[in-house]
Order: sequence, then structure tokens, then C-alpha cells
Amino acid sequence: MDIWQIRAFGQRPEAVAAPDPEPRAGAVRLQFRAASLNHRDLMVADGRYDPGATLPIVPLSDAVWTVLDGPAAGSRAVTAFAPGHPSGDPSRQVVRGALGCRTPGVAASLSLALPDDLVSVPDAIDDATAATLPCAALTAWSALHVGGPPRPGDRVLTWGTGGVACWTAALGKAMELNVTVATSDPARGRILEGLGATAIPRDDAVGRAGPFDRVVDVAGGRALASALPAVRNGGHIALVGVLDGHQSPLDLLPIVMRTLHLHGIFVGSRQGLKDLVAFVAANGCRVPVTLFPWSSLPEAYDALARGGTIGKIVVTR
Ligand SMILES: NC(=O)c1ccc[n+]([C@@H]2O[C@H](COP(=O)([O-])OP(=O)(O)OC[C@H]3O[C@@H](n4cnc5c(N)ncnc54)[C@H](OP(=O)(O)O)[C@@H]3O)[C@@H](O)[C@H]2O)c1
Repeated sequence: MDIWQIRAFGQRPEAVAAPDPEPRAGAVRLQFRAASLNHRDLMVADGRYDPGATLPIVPLSDAVWTVLDGPAAGSRAVTAFAPGHPSGDPSRQVVRGALGCRTPGVAASLSLALPDDLVSVPDAIDDATAATLPCAALTAWSALHVGGPPRPGDRVLTWGTGGVACWTAALGKAMELNVTVATSDPARGRILEGLGATAIPRDDAVGRAGPFDRVVDVAGGRALASALPAVRNGGHIALVGVLDGHQSPLDLLPIVMRTLHLHGIFVGSRQGLKDLVAFVAANGCRVPVTLFPWSSLPEAYDALARGGTIGKIVVTR
């Protein structure tokens, strides 16, 4: 089979020929169809994601496959981001075992998975969309559900025009939420408006927008601190990413006095992925996708690192 490997930190993945996977009790074989890239994949490749990770690494966490064995043979399925996480909060072992770092990832023409780590994909969802579901879309789904299911009319703030933000806008539109996206680029913001969101500049004035019921926060850092005044009393902040920094000059007093809820998000469980797949199929949700061929995975990494694409980058074979 063909796989991609990160063989040195700071380098792009290299194509490598490898033996086909050995059959494993209970596991089914999978044939690669498409995979998406996440910001995390850049961090893994640079050695910034997990100090315990050892080289070489088979990268990427999100793919849609053709199932080759068992009762589902011939159908399509997505792999769960972290194996062995059926529902609820993830254990430390689940977090460490997410695909594409310590556990070999999905950048392989063939793979194996336990049926309990797969979710079947209905015909209503195309391959490119399916490949974006296990991490970015599920993260947005989980973030929108903290503190209970979102209600039509809920006002949501998120940042940027990347994978999580676009999925927040696309899911929010189908849920009849009012999603506001704070972006550095008004031109890209206009594309988000096509997804039903309102685009505003990403600056200190974000704190005067709102009031928001929910924040899907991919930024952390100063951005989180500046957004706090815009959250309504009792509102929910789902902390997803730290693009603006791991450390935040956060004033804790408003969290106390205005009974704000700050939730950490780690992607989501297989049950969340099943619920998401059903919702996306029923509502026809999609995000902008930039396609690369399998043979151009290093160029796909370059495009993600440069920024400027909107939504998701997907590699197809
Ligand atoms: N916890 C989890 O489970 C989980 C899951 C998925 C992702 N994440 C994390 O969430 C973050 C976003 O992931 P992604 O896949 O959506 O990334 P992405 O596709 O690379 O998109 C990032 C976008 O965020 C905006 N941005 C960049 N720097 C920013 C800053 N300092 N403050 C606010 N916005 C900024 C930019 O949009 P504009 O130029 O339009 O402003 C950029 O396009 C990453 O940190 C990622 O590691 C966490």
C-alpha cells in the first residue's frame, strides 16, 4: 500500500511504500477515498502538538473510506477522530490515541478499524464533505451543544474563515442560529455571509458586538479576553483552539459576576459523530472545500500553512 510519513519534524510528509495492514481480530479493512487537513496536522508535523510523539508519523486524522470487509462491505464510512471513544468526555488515553500522531493516521491507501470506530456515510453526503466531518465539523457540533442543544435564534460568535468557523456557520444556518464571524479579511468574510453568517472585523470592537448566547472560540489568547464583554449573562464559551495564544489576560471577575460558562472541547465522541452525520445528511450542510490530489499532499500542507483558503482542504485519491 501507499502511505505518507512525517519522517522529520519541520518537514512535509513523504510518500512511502508499505506492506498491506495485517488482518486484526474484529477489524475491517478500509480503502482510502478522501481526507481533510486540520490545523493540528501542521502542529504534529512541526513537533509542536505532542512532545511524546515519535517519528515516523503517518499523519492526518479525518478520512472517508470504502469498507472492504464484513456486513458493511462496499459502503462508505468515516473513521472517528479518536478510537475507543463511544460517548461522554474523553479519557487521557483517548486524547493521546487520536489518529495522526501517536496512533498512525489516515494518510494510507489501506487501513484497518474496528466497526465501533466507524460511522457509515449516507449517499446524501459527498466524499469531500464526509472527509471534513470527524474533526472540524464534529468540533463545531460539540461546541454548539455545550450546556444543552442550541435553540433557534441563539446568537453565536466565532473567529476566522477556517474549518471550525465555516462548519459553525453551516451548522448554525441549518439550526436557525444567528452566527457572527469575526475575520481578518472582509473579502473572505463575504463568503461566510454566503453561508448565512454575519461577518465583522476581527478587532477589539468585537467586545461591543453581541450580546451572544454562545462563543465557539478557536482563538483563546487576547481574542478570548476581548470577546468576554460580548457574551450575555449565563452564556456559554466553548474553548476549541488557541490560535491567539495558550495564555490569556482573562479577567475572571465577569465570569463570576455574570455566571459565564467556559467549556473545554476535545472534538467529540463517536455518538456525536453519528448525530452529526445524520444532521448533515438531512440538512445538506456543506462548507467551502479546496481539493488536492493524493499525490500533492505536501502542497496541501503548504496551502494550509500559508492560510488564505476558506473552509477545508481535502485530498482525494
Ligand atoms: N479542541 C478541539 O477539539 C479542536 C478541534 C479542531 C480544531 N481545533 C483548533 O481550533 C483552531 C482552529 O482550527 P481550524 O481547523 O478551524 O483552523 P484553520 O482552518 O487553520 O483556520 C484558522 C482561521 O482562524 C483565523 N485566525 C487565525 N489567527 C487567529 C487569531 N489570532 N485570532 C482569531 N482568529 C484567527 C483565520 O481566519 P481569518 O483570517 O478569516 O481571520 C484562519 O483562517 C486551531 O487552533 C485548532 O488547533 C481544536
